[in-house]
Amino acid sequence: MKRIAIFSSGSGSNFQAIVDAVQSGELDASIKLLVCDQPDAFVIERAKASGIPAFVFRAKDFESKDAFETAIHEELVLHGVEFIVLAGYMRLIGSTLLEKYATNIVNIHPSLLPAFPGKDAIGQALQSGVKITGVTIHYVDAGMDTGPIIEQECIRITKDETKSSLQEKVHRIEHGLYPRTLNTLFQTS
Ligand code: GRF
Repeated sequence: MKRIAIFSSGSGSNFQAIVDAVQSGELDASIKLLVCDQPDAFVIERAKASGIPAFVFRAKDFESKDAFETAIHEELVLHGVEFIVLAGYMRLIGSTLLEKYATNIVNIHPSLLPAFPGKDAIGQALQSGVKITGVTIHYVDAGMDTGPIIEQECIRITKDETKSSLQEKVHRIEHGLYPRTLNTLFQTS
């Protein structure tokens, strides 16, 4: 059973979907740790409610990215983490963690990459006028949402689509796709 850490900076609905999938037996993994860079994030409450330990930090309390990633790495080792799942973690992973975890870091992004990388992918898709967008799960490399694609699912943008209605569709897809894709990945690696 894969020992994973989930990194999140916000509400953590994907964190919750992964927790629920582990509890229901849909996802064969053990969630060892939440890593969160925002002390007020709601995801911390979700971790508490599920009895999952959290490492919460503020980047500005450290001298450099290398310094906070070294602190994160110590926690990951302490909890025996083998695999990192990014779920709304609003920072680029730096060389310190990339070197240690190499191909064992994945991310979920709310667009069909390589379209609309970076922030506000949902807003970018709406603005652009595309009729199809979606969700991508990919390996993480040093770039912004550039690593090899693992899985994608499409979403149709309707005529009267708003940002919040599209966000809702994206979340609904993400909450099924992420646990399913992780499970397939863990069964084959
Ligand atoms: C998700 O839409 C994910 O694709 C993106 O950030 C959002 C996080 O949402 N990377 P939540 O915190 O899991 O609710």
